[in-house]
Order: sequence, then C-alpha cells, then structure tokens
Amino acid sequence: MQDPSFEVIVVGGGVAGLGVAWELAQRGRRVRVLEGRHVGAGATWAAAGMLAPSAEIGFEELDLYALGRESLARWPVFARRLEAASGRSVGYRDDGTLVVADDRDSLRALRRLFDFQTDHGVPVEWLSGEEAVDLEPMLSPRLPAAIVAPGDHQVDNRAVLRALHRAALASGVDVREETPVSRIVPGADRPEVVLADGTTLDARAVVLAAGAWSASLGGLDPAPPVRGVKGQALALRLDPDRGLDLRHVVRGPDAYLVPKADGRLVVGATSEDGVPDTRVTGGGVFRLLEGAVAVVPGVEEMEFVETWAAHRPASRDHAPLLGQSAHPGVFYATGHYRHGVLLAPVTAEEVAAAVDRTLAGAPETAPVLAPFAPLRFPS
Ligand code: GLY
Repeated sequence: MQDPSFEVIVVGGGVAGLGVAWELAQRGRRVRVLEGRHVGAGATWAAAGMLAPSAEIGFEELDLYALGRESLARWPVFARRLEAASGRSVGYRDDGTLVVADDRDSLRALRRLFDFQTDHGVPVEWLSGEEAVDLEPMLSPRLPAAIVAPGDHQVDNRAVLRALHRAALASGVDVREETPVSRIVPGADRPEVVLADGTTLDARAVVLAAGAWSASLGGLDPAPPVRGVKGQALALRLDPDRGLDLRHVVRGPDAYLVPKADGRLVVGATSEDGVPDTRVTGGGVFRLLEGAVAVVPGVEEMEFVETWAAHRPASRDHAPLLGQSAHPGVFYATGHYRHGVLLAPVTAEEVAAAVDRTLAGAPETAPVLAPFAPLRFPS
C-alpha cells in the first residue's frame, strides 16, 4: 500500500521510537509509528527512570559513558520542551543519587566507582555512613560509606511516555497501536514494512525502535544483534506521615530504590539473561526486597503496591545501535539495554537529525553517534 502522506515509518512505540518520531515531526517530517501492543508496553514502562551515567556501565565502556553524560546534560531542556509540547509533567527530579556500600566487597567497588567518577570530572562526594544518614535518614546506620552524586537525576519514565505520546500526536505523528509488524523490507528507494495482517506500507525511511523485539522482526539479514535481558521490579508506597520517605535515588549493591513523585518507591531490578518469559517470581521479589532492606530497613514497613517484569534490549556489546543500518533506507534506534530513558534525548535528537539529513540528500552522522553505528557489527 503506497501511502505518500508518510515519509518515515517508525517501528516501535517506546521512548526511543516516540522520541525519534516527535523530533522528526518537529523538523517537518510526516511520520507514522507502528506499535504492536500499546505505547511503552516494553522496557520504557518497566524502567526506573534513573539518569545516572556511571551507575550501570563497565569502566571500560568509555564511549557509552560519554554518550550517557551527553544525554544527561540534554535532559533538562528535553524535559522542558516535552512538558511544553504535551502539557504534562515528566516528573524530573534533581535530588541526586546516593550509591552505598553495605560490606567490605561493596566498599571496595564503591571506592573504584568514586575514583572513576573523579577521574572523569564528575562532581561527587565521598561520605561516611554517618554523613550519608544525615543526608538521607532512612538509610541503614550500618552502611560503611556512600557516594553522593548531586548531578545524577531521575524522571518518571511512565510520565515521560505519556508526555511523548501526547506530544507526538500533537505534532501530527500518526501513532498506530495494536499494529504488529512482521517484517521490514529494505530498499534505497522506498523501504517497506509488512504488517502481521499482510498489509504492506512504504515510506522514504524506516526507523527500527522495537527494543527487545527488534531481532524477531523478519526481513533484515543480518538481524540487529539485540536480545532480551529480563528484569523484575516492584513498587512500594512511601508514607511521609509515618516517616517512610526518601528523597535521593539510592543504589545499593543488590537493589536500587527510586522515589517517585506519585508516592511510589520503585525497587529494581533483577538481571536474567536468556530467560524468555516475563513472570514475576518469588525468588525475584525476595532478592529485590532483601537488597532494598539491607540499605533502607524501613522498606519492611512500606505498603506493597505492584510488581512487573520486562526485557531490556541488549546488543552484543551492551551499547545502543543508532543511525543508518547496513540495510538501505533502514535506521536503528534500538539496543539501549539499561539506558533507554537516560539516552532518550540524544537518541531522539540525533537519530531524527540523521534521518532528516538523509532525506534532505545530505547524509551525515553526528560525531556523538559514531561509536554506536549499527555497522560496527560484522554480519
Ligand atoms: N536501568 C535500570 C535497569 O536496567 O535495571
């Protein structure tokens, strides 16, 4: 089906797909988003919304670290633009992050993290356990030390999703939910997207932003090297009237705790490679609560709210795939693994710019995306 009214089809309605679609629409491009279930049904909904570049990378992943810091720096303006465009809050909180140790091994790891952060000019401060409790009274008095990172912020990932959906619609993006795609057919002229019901759509460019589903779509050979890594998480209810409150994001050795503006305390997350289901298990919940109680004992008093599980889209090297793929007409914005919300601004802005420049006949990739070119993987 030729539909000349759309120049770009984005496959996937999570934070990456909606972000790229919204940015392209800002540039005057006519965009359609195809989402197999409902927007943000995957990792975006399940995330915790932490904007903390050094917290979840290996120290050798310097390009990814630089991309994370670049995206963190862009978040405040991105959040303001998104809030203005959608009329909704994205729950941006700048209270900072506390990374804590709870034994001798984790203390050594904390010291290494501190050295890495200071070597890279990140404004962080080393605190004794007592100083950490002064800052965040719900922390266990038994913790030996903590790092406070005032610049590591957070957003409400679910609020971001709702805002992106509304902003994309307001800017003219055609968002189709419950529209599963079965394959993408590359082509320099007009790549095609074949829906599960057999309908064929074409456009001048296709952006694959299907997260953990990216490799299961047909038509791309080689398929993007993205697999799902299961994460289970849960939420408790903060209750400031009973003294059950946290201001900072708290990262312990075995769980992170993220206080949300809506009164939930998100506790995450398991990391289960090669587990295809999204069941929440007794063992998963047990380990998360155990890890949370070890650093914030008052978790025991909090009301239990919900559990969930989803798959993170992990590439072979755990870094995202951003920009022109090996397939003519097909761009990638996928493989964000643990960093999809952090990397939302840089993904949206730079992948949209790359697509836009290509459509304008002057293809060019921003230097910041160069290390993340999908072509880095040999077929
Ligand atoms: N970034 C949170 C997680 O992957 O669990």
